[in-house]
Amino acid sequence: MAPRTALVIGARGVIGGNLIDHLRESGGWDVIGVSRRGGTDEGRVRHLAVDLLDRDATAEAFAASRAVAEVTHVFYAAYQERPTWAGLVAPNLGMLTNVVDAVEPVAPRLEHISLMQGYKVYGAHLGPFATPAKESDPPHMPPEFNVDQQQLLERRQAGAAWSWSAIRPSVVAGIGLGNPMNLALVIAVYASISKELGIPLRFPGAPGAYTSLIEMTDAGLLAEATVWAATTDVAQNQAFNITNGDLFRWSSMWPKIAAFFELEVAPPLPMALTEVMADKEGLWDAMVARHGLAPTPYSDVSSWAFGDFVFRWDYDVIADGSKARRAGFHSYVETEEMFLRIFTDLRAGRLIP
Ligand SMILES: NC(=O)c1ccc[n+]([C@@H]2O[C@H](COP(=O)([O-])OP(=O)(O)OC[C@H]3O[C@@H](n4cnc5c(N)ncnc54)[C@H](OP(=O)(O)O)[C@@H]3O)[C@@H](O)[C@H]2O)c1
Repeated sequence: MAPRTALVIGARGVIGGNLIDHLRESGGWDVIGVSRRGGTDEGRVRHLAVDLLDRDATAEAFAASRAVAEVTHVFYAAYQERPTWAGLVAPNLGMLTNVVDAVEPVAPRLEHISLMQGYKVYGAHLGPFATPAKESDPPHMPPEFNVDQQQLLERRQAGAAWSWSAIRPSVVAGIGLGNPMNLALVIAVYASISKELGIPLRFPGAPGAYTSLIEMTDAGLLAEATVWAATTDVAQNQAFNITNGDLFRWSSMWPKIAAFFELEVAPPLPMALTEVMADKEGLWDAMVARHGLAPTPYSDVSSWAFGDFVFRWDYDVIADGSKARRAGFHSYVETEEMFLRIFTDLRAGRLIP
């Protein structure tokens, strides 16, 4: 395989971070991770700290980097959070535009730009949508930044030497800190605090959410699929749903999660995690001290708004993953095993008791 250089945009995210781990472990890749925070260079992984909202700074940083000049594959997984769906469009479309504008002129070996999307393309965040969602489903009423981003790549790819792919995961589960969307951490910290308080584990979502069908995407599986789509001829210039491959209901998963944390399960009780977990910072700090945990600020383990968002879905949230399988991607992950593995890893890293 010819040497490849990956520019991972959003390197400190739950998705970008796990993608870098995958590229490092699979070998054959030089990696440049891009984020505002930057990171520690190690082996073939280097970091570049730049604010992608700043068009000039992005162009200057990419032009000044000899490593970026070698880039063959861009993996775009940056994300700017905003309180409204309309508000997400300008910053997220702007960052992708700035990346494409800055990388194209300086990276003559550019082969591919991979875009991380999600089920928002199908309107999953708006209400009960047609399920299982297919990549070919018709679009919904804008604003929708994922769609705008894909259209940008389609326009820019016309006549260019590079190709694109778009990857559509379900809720992503993996290890990462300080991310606004990290469901595994929501559950792990919620369960750990329940245990500390001596109370049973209650599903905090809407009643219908407990029994609806849902699916997850393991961050490692997602990384594997993202690289597959970016490097496989038949996958070019297309979108793919990427899911673990099994479906579940929280009503059957919750007792397994409770058992891992050695907790009793009590009946669900709808509550806003953003409200009930807001006063738990002192308790968390005490837990960190008492259990000898890695000193992690409460804000870094709190994706409570994302928990409220996901646990509100009182309708099926599932997509058809067969297109990727037909094109040759056959990996899958058992979701129960995934949750318990992530919780075990969080424990081993002393992030939770
Ligand atoms: N997480 C999920 O469950 C999930 C599920 C489906 C789809 N998705 C989609 O996947 C994409 C990535 O999500 P994620 O959860 O991995 O996001 P994330 O954890 O919030 O990561 C975002 C990344 O973007 C970087 N970033 C943000 N603003 C930046 C800026 N101005 N300049 C440079 N870097 C910037 C962040 O690093 P710094 O903060 O250091 O800049 C971080 O590395 C999003 O489009 C999201 O909608 C996520």
